[in-house]
Amino acid sequence: MEAEIVCTEPPPLSRNETLVFAVNGKRFEIKDIDPSTTLLHFLRSQTPFKSVKLGCGEGGCGACIVLLSKYDPVLKQVEHFTISSCLTLICSINGCSITTSEGLGNSKDGFHPIHQRFAGFHASQCGFCTPGMCMSLFSALVNAEEKQRPDPSPGISKLTVSEAEKAITGNLCRCTGYRPIADACKSFAYDVDMEDLGFNSFWRKGETKELKVSRLPSYSPKEHSCIYPQFLKDNVKSVMLLNSRRNSWYTPGTIQELLSLLHSDVVQNGTKIKLVVGNTGTGYYKEAEIYDKYIDLRYIPDLSAVRRDNSGIEFGAALSISKVIFSLKEEQKLNSCLDGNMVFKKIADHMEKVASGFIRNSASLGGNLVMAQRNYFASDITTLLLAVGSSVSILEGHKHEKVTLEEFLSRPPLDSRTVLISVHIPFLEPIRNNDSVETNSGLLFESYRAAARPLGNALPYLNAAFLADVSCNKNGVLVNNIQLAFGAYGTRHATRAREVEEYLAGTGKTLSVGILNKAVELIKSSVIPEEGTSHAAYRSSLAVSYLFSFLFSFSNSVDYAISGSPFDGNDGTLLEEACKRNNDDDRSQIVRPPLLSSANQVIESSREYYPIGEPIIKSGSAIQASGEAVYVDDIPSPPNCLHGAFINSTKPLARVKGISFGSDSLPNGVTAIISFKDIPEGGENVGSKTVFGFEPLFADDLTRCAGEPIAFLAETQKYADAAAKMAMVDYDTKTIDPPILTIQEAVDRASFFDVPSFLYPEKVGDFLKGMAEADHKILSTEIKLNSQYYFYMETQTALAIPDEDNCMVIYSSIQCPEFLHSVVAKCLGIPEHNIRVITRRVGGGFGGKAIKAMPVATACALAAYKLRRPVRIYLDRKTDMIMAGGRHPMKITYTVGFKSNGKITALHLDILINAGINPDISPVMPSSVVGALKKYDWGALSFDIKVCKTNHPSKSAMRAPGEVQGSFVADAVIENVASVLSMEVDSVRKRNLHTYESLKLFYGSVAGDSIEYTLPTIWDKLARSSSYVDRIAMIEQFNGSHKWRKRGISQVPIVHEVLVRPAPGKVSILWDGSIVVEVGGIELGQGLWTKVKQMTAYALSTIQCDGSENLVEKVRVIQSDTLSLVQGGFTSGSTTSESSCEAVRLCCNILVERLAPLKKQLQEQMDSVNWDILILQAHLQDVNLAASSYYVPESSSVRYLNYGAAVSEVEVNILTGETRILRSDIIYDCGQSMNPAVDLGQIEGAFVQGIGFFMLEEYLSNTEGLVVADSTWTYKIPTIDTIPKQFNVEVLNSGCHKNRVLSSKASGEPPLLLAASVHCATRAAIKEARKQLKSWGSVVDGSDSTFQLEVPATMPVVKKLCGLDTVERYLQSLLTC
Ligand SMILES: Cc1cc2nc3c(=O)[nH]c(=O)nc-3n(C[C@H](O)[C@H](O)[C@H](O)COP(=O)(O)OP(=O)(O)OC[C@H]3O[C@@H](n4cnc5c(N)ncnc54)[C@H](O)[C@@H]3O)c2cc1C
Ligand code: FES
Ligand code: FES
Repeated sequence: MEAEIVCTEPPPLSRNETLVFAVNGKRFEIKDIDPSTTLLHFLRSQTPFKSVKLGCGEGGCGACIVLLSKYDPVLKQVEHFTISSCLTLICSINGCSITTSEGLGNSKDGFHPIHQRFAGFHASQCGFCTPGMCMSLFSALVNAEEKQRPDPSPGISKLTVSEAEKAITGNLCRCTGYRPIADACKSFAYDVDMEDLGFNSFWRKGETKELKVSRLPSYSPKEHSCIYPQFLKDNVKSVMLLNSRRNSWYTPGTIQELLSLLHSDVVQNGTKIKLVVGNTGTGYYKEAEIYDKYIDLRYIPDLSAVRRDNSGIEFGAALSISKVIFSLKEEQKLNSCLDGNMVFKKIADHMEKVASGFIRNSASLGGNLVMAQRNYFASDITTLLLAVGSSVSILEGHKHEKVTLEEFLSRPPLDSRTVLISVHIPFLEPIRNNDSVETNSGLLFESYRAAARPLGNALPYLNAAFLADVSCNKNGVLVNNIQLAFGAYGTRHATRAREVEEYLAGTGKTLSVGILNKAVELIKSSVIPEEGTSHAAYRSSLAVSYLFSFLFSFSNSVDYAISGSPFDGNDGTLLEEACKRNNDDDRSQIVRPPLLSSANQVIESSREYYPIGEPIIKSGSAIQASGEAVYVDDIPSPPNCLHGAFINSTKPLARVKGISFGSDSLPNGVTAIISFKDIPEGGENVGSKTVFGFEPLFADDLTRCAGEPIAFLAETQKYADAAAKMAMVDYDTKTIDPPILTIQEAVDRASFFDVPSFLYPEKVGDFLKGMAEADHKILSTEIKLNSQYYFYMETQTALAIPDEDNCMVIYSSIQCPEFLHSVVAKCLGIPEHNIRVITRRVGGGFGGKAIKAMPVATACALAAYKLRRPVRIYLDRKTDMIMAGGRHPMKITYTVGFKSNGKITALHLDILINAGINPDISPVMPSSVVGALKKYDWGALSFDIKVCKTNHPSKSAMRAPGEVQGSFVADAVIENVASVLSMEVDSVRKRNLHTYESLKLFYGSVAGDSIEYTLPTIWDKLARSSSYVDRIAMIEQFNGSHKWRKRGISQVPIVHEVLVRPAPGKVSILWDGSIVVEVGGIELGQGLWTKVKQMTAYALSTIQCDGSENLVEKVRVIQSDTLSLVQGGFTSGSTTSESSCEAVRLCCNILVERLAPLKKQLQEQMDSVNWDILILQAHLQDVNLAASSYYVPESSSVRYLNYGAAVSEVEVNILTGETRILRSDIIYDCGQSMNPAVDLGQIEGAFVQGIGFFMLEEYLSNTEGLVVADSTWTYKIPTIDTIPKQFNVEVLNSGCHKNRVLSSKASGEPPLLLAASVHCATRAAIKEARKQLKSWGSVVDGSDSTFQLEVPATMPVVKKLCGLDTVERYLQSLLTC
């Protein structure tokens, strides 16, 4: 259908308007701005509001979320929704009000209850994600108020638990593990059972519901809602043209205006134009292109309308996906008995898994389809709409056309001036023919997507949508018509599987196993990913699984049909059942089960060293929530400040002949390009330092790994980034040996780093003797472990400011400022006293901001030094991922001997560690790996460990470096032994757990006293508290009765050795009695400052004067400054909190000693001496009230062991390979925890990061070693929907440990190892699947029980082990039986 639109009037192009909007109630008017400016950039650079954080710039993390409020002058209503400010263009918020977390509340005006509850539920660690989380929750609260629900009791909202959880599904947090965040959100829900909420600072267990509610920071929708400024209501203008010097933003109000714009002189002759709606497409395509004209389509009524007629519903292409979802659900409500309306509801449900809420709120329907059509984007929406026979209206030139979606997709890619106007979804009704009885026919619709995250925020491996018109006769179910659409599987566009459709609808026979079998065969030859698509076989197998699920769900009970029995005459029943199931929407909506079930946290707090041991709220958590906490990139830029970007090598080993930008000169505006040639005289090309020496900053003539920095550009961030992207590096590889890119190549070429003998671990016992005692042997079994990326929410960042007399001040987000200090001095060739490194807080480190933060800050310092201007950098996520290195990949080959009863007698391992190009901390890896591997009594243990030098970015410490691999390998060996012996894994584990004697043999004096060896007690206690034995029986039963889902359970122990290093501290008491503390340790989110505050308060309280028992509020821990406190060392290895605490205790002891005589003197004069008076007098009497110390642990305190155990239960979906963690129980020994709330947070956060390593995160590189998993699109950390549904944690208070700091033990890293329990449970579930597969007569690789499950055990990996052809095998088994 075609129609011509005639443009009659010239558009109002001459109008020049002003952009008017509000941020946190404040009016902003802008006349001239580059339209490509994002809202995030504007807020961060031109307003004081820094709570919007840049975590990814791709719409994938939620750190930048703001609430957008918009007035509808027709409805006279304000609508509120979240958007990602990193993708929203500033011009598109004209007339809108923006609220950021500071706008909700702040330290000056009072915090919002959301902030207070986040703090009180211990839901903020590093705090970088917290403002975004708060905004997601706030939006949910505001919108819940609009719902027709009874008024809840005071303090609570109209939100439901399920909505509260859903509110944060698109937000990433790398620290907390989400459970406390979910609890903070759920505390607002009216249907929450307060007993289900986790540990918090508001109440203790056992209090009544009313009391609990009353203890929560009170919430009142009226008081705590957001206000839409009146001036915006008066000011709304829909038509706008904003000109900046370079480019313009147009907002046409009609199709005619749009047409004139598209075809006027203004946009002719090569002018680059961009049609824009939500601009979320740039999250994926990250266009570097700068456009001349932006045309905003949202104000054209035809593109924003929802129209309904007899044939269906037409959606304007500029409607947001959220609005489309809303309309579809409304439509369904109008007549929920119609089959076709059920389809709408299901499409809406599926659309709710597209991206995340804050993207869907601005992302348009049309934008999605255009991206799919033009760029072959892996769209869900196209697949859904294709299955239901949708059509689209397009405007090409002056021609208005209506074509089917299928035809639209098959056309050549749209040009930039063709406009998608609307999308039509037809009403659907089953075919009624004369023969069929109406009630016996019906429409069935189902859609599917297989993605790493069940609730969205992850593109699918494949999506599918099926619509079937079926009817029943006495023989079974007949397919009258069927439409099968598949997409996102490595195909350009979503496609219809016509051949299968024709087959199914054309047989004229009722569905049977034979028909299913044939359909499955046909689908395999229809859904074939294009060459080069990852996991191609897996994707095809998903197509089979989904078709099978669909047909199976409504076909006659296939098992029954096979036996040849006809229906029993009750023709309608099956179909009715299927339709009922299919229509079972509202039930699921009303009682949508929460994502997480109640969790139990057990902690014991001891008052022996009060306030040490108290679960006090993390220091600074409220300002983290409100967004006022200052991270490096929040420090305002000094005048004249430049921004940097790296040019990184894309080759692993090549000569760098030159860098060009398409012309000889630097690109427009770029001030400088800095490389190794700019190292000043006397300086050196060094960018980092470890105990093993210095490492280079820039590639010199030779680049030695892909990702290595070659040069650094300085300008505004935008131009520096654009220039870095434009840079063309001329490489030459002639006469250079090929790079070493695999562990095997390193071995072949003997490319190893030396491991100093004192760092090489010692063998235990006599391996040959142990093997001789063995009844069985497993020889040379291989395990491969991959890397993991830190994914701290704040990427690497630094600001360098030149100071007088050749000095340099550097603000860096770093875990070891002292080391950076030396590196910069050496690089610049100036004395160390010229350098000052300041670090206040770090937005997540996990080891990645130790060595790897140094080159970033050093490059800034070098540029600042050369240019004599401040220079700052905040790496974009891609560059960060390319340079980070991450966890060490390894290849392990082991030989193990064991007795028939499962007792292992000897283990030998050959371990090859891929260290990358520089040593970094890699030479310590052998001892870390072996330290954790020794958790079992192996009888005799020997190994040969090589640290391989390869042409990859050097690998660095990542939370539990080496230990997580060692601990995992230990369990892999145990599992293999159990499989070979056909024994319960659990009994083999138990048999090989250490006795105290064997522990001493393996760990020597590090084992400590026998009373400290708590693992056996933990093991038994956990088995009891998690009902391990009973659950094994229940799982057996479940597996026996479920074909397509299998469950597994596993209990895993850990022994984790830590090292306590020296640490400095300084405590000063001011005139008013307030206390300032400096420590070497850095606050990374791990609660170091909080523990230090508690320790200061405790140690000073020993002076015993009035008021000294409540000193905690008087203590402030301040930023680390390398000139104020030297020898700060590294914040790593889980023990910096305790060593910093001990250093502070030493300072306090000195102060108490100095104050004691004065106190005695005062006490003689007055009855009681209070703290403030004591300190005032001390100042007046010139007592030295500043003390510093350097804590050096005694040899008996340097090393110790940590213990814990976890039980995890999972459910594997055999059809898709998806693993859901049903429950995890942990008991972890914290000694006598200094702050159980902080330690609980560390345990949960580490465990969830471990889940990421074992189950989800693939840090992939290309064949040249260049990281290709370089975005939130390709790298998936856990989200709230991938953590254990039930998560019980006990922080064991195991009492006195004489060599520890006030008996406390570390919690930061060891619990990460416990996540291996999830992997082992998955393995157990897969084992069941393989057993079943074998029973269907299938040949499985290896035996059904002996197989390697890769790390991470992603969906394709799990599915492959369960059988890519399970469905086919199953059908075959039915056919042949
Ligand atoms: C983090 C994230 C996750 C996502 N996950 C998914 C997912 O799981 N499944 C899925 O299907 N999609 C997903 N998407 C894609 C998302 O649906 C699209 O980005 C969005 O719909 C595009 O709409 P927009 O209004 O933002 O388009 P824009 O970004 O404004 O435009 C996109 C492109 O389309 C052009 N365009 C827009 N509207 C029109 C029109 N009416 N006529 C002609 N050209 C037009 C623009 O010029 C531009 O080239 C995701 C996006 C993000 C950012
Ligand atoms: S920074 Fe905007 S979503 Fe990540
Ligand atoms: S607290 Fe969530 S990312 Fe650190």
